[in-house]
Amino acid sequence: MTDLKFTPEFIQRMKGHQRVAALTAYDFPMAKLLDEAGVPMLLVGDSLGMVVLGHPDTTHVTLEDMLHHTRAAARARPRALLGADLPYRTYDTPEQALDSSRKLVDAGAEFVKAEGGIEILPQIQAILAAGIPFCGHLGMLPQHVLEEGGKYRIKGRDESGRNRLLIDAAALEAAGVFACVLELVTPPVAAEVTQACRRMVTIGIGSGTACDGQILVTHDLIGAFPWFTPKFVTPRVATGNLTKSAVQEWMQSLEAPTPSTHHS
Ligand code: KIV
Repeated sequence: MTDLKFTPEFIQRMKGHQRVAALTAYDFPMAKLLDEAGVPMLLVGDSLGMVVLGHPDTTHVTLEDMLHHTRAAARARPRALLGADLPYRTYDTPEQALDSSRKLVDAGAEFVKAEGGIEILPQIQAILAAGIPFCGHLGMLPQHVLEEGGKYRIKGRDESGRNRLLIDAAALEAAGVFACVLELVTPPVAAEVTQACRRMVTIGIGSGTACDGQILVTHDLIGAFPWFTPKFVTPRVATGNLTKSAVQEWMQSLEAPTPSTHHS
């Protein structure tokens, strides 16, 4: 184990040489465990709204929620590059985007991520101009799930969807965005976007294998939220079931109270 610290520049240099593995971490122990496992990029994702806070989607997550969890993950002082999501409605204007990003950076985020392409370019430019590294998020945008009728729809299926993704990715790369999540993008289009980007690292989720890297919600990977697993994830361990069995074993191991102790 070296004491090398992962930076956005380092992640960019991995493009074309080594796949970038990225995972979500919402608290101190998970950030520490994943860091000790050697994961180079961690995200305090607003997916915590579902898998930690019990909301139906990410639109309920507040900036306060993100600051609380970012502070917890940052206390692990990971070698991994640690980023945080700008939650829903906290980046409607360039001023608001910068203010929210600065708060996340003060909480320990080393980059911020927000969902959208050219429609949020002024916000991205304001964040980058302040020296805060930015990670894009294109394709299926979970914060827009309600506008999409409550469905998480695959993107890039038709020509206009493909063109839109290529235009958005080009605009983000030209602005200086170091990496971009491609969520639920058809694998051929994700491959095309990856090829088209010379410097911006594409990080796929449910978008095939050709992206520069892959990101998953850690709870999906380790079966810690067994009530829902996305189709594209094969859990590597059933943490939820293991936990239930361990707790039941422990309960069975408890000694029955003796009647005399009980009534005294
Ligand atoms: O919120 C999140 O965890 C994310 C990743 C899954 C990309 O945006």
